[in-house]
Amino acid sequence: MRKKIVAGNWKMNNNKGETAELIQALKPLSFSPDIRVMIAPAFTHLAQAEKLTQGGRLEVLAQNMNASDSGAFTGEISAGMLYSIGINKVILGHSERRAYYNETDSSLKKKVETALTHNMEVVFCFGEELEDRKAGNYFEVIQTQLETALFDLTPSEWSKIILAYEPVWAIGTGETASPQQAQEMHAFIRGLIALKYDQVLADDVCILYGGSVKPANASAIFSMRDVDGGLIGGAALKAEDFMAIIQSV
Ligand code: PGA
Repeated sequence: MRKKIVAGNWKMNNNKGETAELIQALKPLSFSPDIRVMIAPAFTHLAQAEKLTQGGRLEVLAQNMNASDSGAFTGEISAGMLYSIGINKVILGHSERRAYYNETDSSLKKKVETALTHNMEVVFCFGEELEDRKAGNYFEVIQTQLETALFDLTPSEWSKIILAYEPVWAIGTGETASPQQAQEMHAFIRGLIALKYDQVLADDVCILYGGSVKPANASAIFSMRDVDGGLIGGAALKAEDFMAIIQSV
């Protein structure tokens, strides 16, 4: 049975002190054993975050990693480095990485494989652009993204994959997909996985929604049958808002 997940993507926000403060504010929160709560601080604060969350239920994940294990990749961070400081989860394929750092589904396929080799869990982000939504070809776009990046994985590798459907037009824009739009896409995604693999696997995969989730809209989106929680950007930076979102799942 799949769990609900609320994950906060802090992006390039919060210095060392702010990171500690936000974690301390979130720590007392209690939530049901069926829910997982994750936070993704900047690389520089992951070790600190890992220490501060020890013994609690907040899980720490990285926002990115390199596809290679080591070598001449100035400025990059490997899966092994993350693992060595106790980080065993990573966000891959966020739309900002795709837009500003030229990440593609083919390059992400390699990153996913590397992460899995290191036994890491992957929150894999994907979603259509506004033009795709307007042109009505958003199902095709999502299908291609998933087929290219993930559909060569074995069924057992899927136990390490968490999907995050994030329509690009809804990220940081204040524009949210309606609960019905989210449900329609999540059901489509689950259907694709059932066709490629089987219904049991499809029913086990967590599919998060991301894009301008706020305390005010979270429960309507999370109440949809195939929406298993959210990947939260802006609203994850305020303890109160993030906690309200967690309470809505
Ligand atoms: P947002 O970001 O909640 O600020 O729209 C979501 C994300 O980028 O994951």
